[in-house]
Amino acid sequence: MMRTLDCDVLVVGSGIAGLMTALRMSRSHDVILATKRTADVSSSNWAQGGISCVSHPHDSFEAHIDDTLATGGGLSDEDAVRAIIQGGPDGIAALEEFGVEFAKRPEYPQYYDLGREGGHSFRRVLHAGDITGHEIILKLLQAAHSRSRIRILEQSHAIDLVTTGWLKQEGTNTCLGSYFLDGRTSEVFAVRAKHTVLATGGACKVYLYTSNPDVATGDGIAMAWRAGLPVKNMEMVQFHPTCLFHREAKSFLISEAVRGEGGRLVSLDGRDFMKDVDPRGALAPRDVVARAIDHEMKVSGAPCVHLDIRHKSRSFLQGRFPNIYERCYELGIDMAEQPIPVVPAAHYFCGGVEAEVNGQTRMPGLYVIGEAACTGLHGANRLASNSLLEGLVMADLLTEELPKLDSQLPQSRPVIPDWDPFHAVPSDEAVVVEHNWNEVRTLMWDYVGIERTDKRLARARRRIHNLRNEIREYYLDYLLTTDTLELRNLATVAELVIRCARRRKESRGLHYTLDYPEALPQAEETFLHDPPGESLDLLDNHAV
Ligand code: SIN
Repeated sequence: MMRTLDCDVLVVGSGIAGLMTALRMSRSHDVILATKRTADVSSSNWAQGGISCVSHPHDSFEAHIDDTLATGGGLSDEDAVRAIIQGGPDGIAALEEFGVEFAKRPEYPQYYDLGREGGHSFRRVLHAGDITGHEIILKLLQAAHSRSRIRILEQSHAIDLVTTGWLKQEGTNTCLGSYFLDGRTSEVFAVRAKHTVLATGGACKVYLYTSNPDVATGDGIAMAWRAGLPVKNMEMVQFHPTCLFHREAKSFLISEAVRGEGGRLVSLDGRDFMKDVDPRGALAPRDVVARAIDHEMKVSGAPCVHLDIRHKSRSFLQGRFPNIYERCYELGIDMAEQPIPVVPAAHYFCGGVEAEVNGQTRMPGLYVIGEAACTGLHGANRLASNSLLEGLVMADLLTEELPKLDSQLPQSRPVIPDWDPFHAVPSDEAVVVEHNWNEVRTLMWDYVGIERTDKRLARARRRIHNLRNEIREYYLDYLLTTDTLELRNLATVAELVIRCARRRKESRGLHYTLDYPEALPQAEETFLHDPPGESLDLLDNHAV
């Protein structure tokens, strides 16, 4: 007999969006928060720069909205932008109530010490040094652990959503919860919930080089897609211009805030190449800077460029960027004396599952928030430090809405069928997973990266098609492992990115193709919606 847990609200993911949702909903509902590693592992926890929010008396919502729209390259939804930005101050107040401490100006401790990042016309980034995400997650997790109505399930990897459609029930297809794989015991269990919230983050692990933690494998996006929901703008992948280039430094970001404090980008022979590219220099929006670095590296053949902040004193660098200073120092780079070698790396998915700003999707009972969602906030490119803001405010808006939706969902919930491994046996060729994992990430980096062409995308499409078939076979033939689940999701997301990229016959924001270097006069979203199919096939093989 399979174990089934019941709750009112199932939250999958333990970043800022998931934790805030769990905390708020636990005032009135029983919440299960499931996360596939330990609860402190998330992209939010790694966020360095901070969280953008209008707080200075001379700043304004309109200015923040204008900056966000300008960066979004014409593809943003202005209503969504407004809703998220105007929700910022309440979200910050809530974080502070949970004990989050943002840096204040030493000389005026009643004012925040506001950071500046690319594309912002004003200093408006609240931060906690360069470990803002860590400070937020630490405090939210402490609060979550103390709530009796929140049950945290670690090492619990979501497999697929369970929907009434899949159970072949009449009526509107409604989400009932999810199957999970326990990463410690390999047991499959189910969580049955009135509301299921996917706060699973992005998918930048789909690229060979990324600033993201290993967990960013697009699980929620792939699960929602398999359940039949549409995705949008999946080709809009943001490459952060400055990840540390060092053979021992895996995925280590050098925050944009370093450029906000005057850090210059220079070629290895000291040329300030950004000056010729954009009047804003190193603080131009990320798409512009990442492309310029990529171009500089391709033309010069250099493996990286340099980020030079030596004009700042050692004590300033140690105080403002303690984490970056420390990590660089450990690796033999003294940023007070030497320029930092940097390269661009995949950083953020601006596209995702179609969702309202309150996380509502087309499927009753299923909500998607944070990076996994595409609300229209980011459009074709995300403004720096708008991502923690989005996760925070979406959680807020969702939790205002959820109690109202309680009564609209069916009151009796069907039994979730037992998971049946069917003919699956333990794998005797795990090498396939490792190999395919590397192949997906390499092909995405080489053919679907910062600079695209029709030919490269066509090549990527052919390759991913074969890989997906192979991965699907493997998924059905062998007993589940967390690696198999992540690979399956990664390959699904890779295909969605490629399909969206092939549809966009122009260059806009983060999507740059040599074949169509100009933007079309009218900005259109890329919208993919296949009839539900794959999920049904796969689940049919695993349920009694
Ligand atoms: C950074 O610190 O540069 C990252 C902030 C962000 O991605 O918005």
